Amino acid sequence: MIKGFIFDLDGVITDTAELHYEAWKNLSDEMGWDFDRELNEQLRGISRLDSIRVIMDHNNVELEGAKIEELANKKNEIYVASLENITPEDYLPGAKVLLTHLRTEGFKVALGSASKNAIKVLEQLNAMGYFDVIGDGTSVSKSKPAPDIFLYGSEKMGLQPDDCIVFEDAEKGIDAAKAGGFYSVGIGPEERVGHADLRFDSMNEATLFEIKSFFKDLF
Ligand code: G6P
Ligand code: MG
Repeated sequence: MIKGFIFDLDGVITDTAELHYEAWKNLSDEMGWDFDRELNEQLRGISRLDSIRVIMDHNNVELEGAKIEELANKKNEIYVASLENITPEDYLPGAKVLLTHLRTEGFKVALGSASKNAIKVLEQLNAMGYFDVIGDGTSVSKSKPAPDIFLYGSEKMGLQPDDCIVFEDAEKGIDAAKAGGFYSVGIGPEERVGHADLRFDSMNEATLFEIKSFFKDLF
């Protein structure tokens, strides 16, 4: 029986991918590294340190651990400053309606994000009230595609993985949901999240009615 939902944040509730892109681009320009929107797509859903390693690999750069951390912190300062511009108008279309609907119907709701800035983003959106549990980049050590962040969410909600539906926009996020034994809804193109149980192009189409119709035996 579906009793809970676990939402990724970036690309599901709001679109911070562009802000991450601008911050990584800023750092990359300063370092003389190649970085573009295509490479930015590969950073969807993965942690900050994994992200900088992807950019370094792409540029055939090797640095020692302390330097990598220093540069990742620098990117984060730029990113955090840009979060000030997020307002309660910046939900992805459909996201707020779905969260409201889940609250009204009494489902448990958790956040399952790799971001250490997730609470800041939720506060900017005025979205904290929609969540019973916040799982963010500080909650577990193994990041997606490991299922740990979603298992953290289900456990804190007092539910089993197969009582929950995970919403994700990242390939590795759907991998993580499947690895944990969760039902999954992918938001985005077939080539990215086509391995989810159910897929929508955007959150606008992901209504509770559609979800209940598809997973009908589980409600
Ligand atoms: C999300 C985003 C990733 C980002 C990660 C870490 O999963 O999709 O692009 O790298 O969070 O975010 P943070 O805010 O901790 O740097
Ligand atoms: Mg995401």
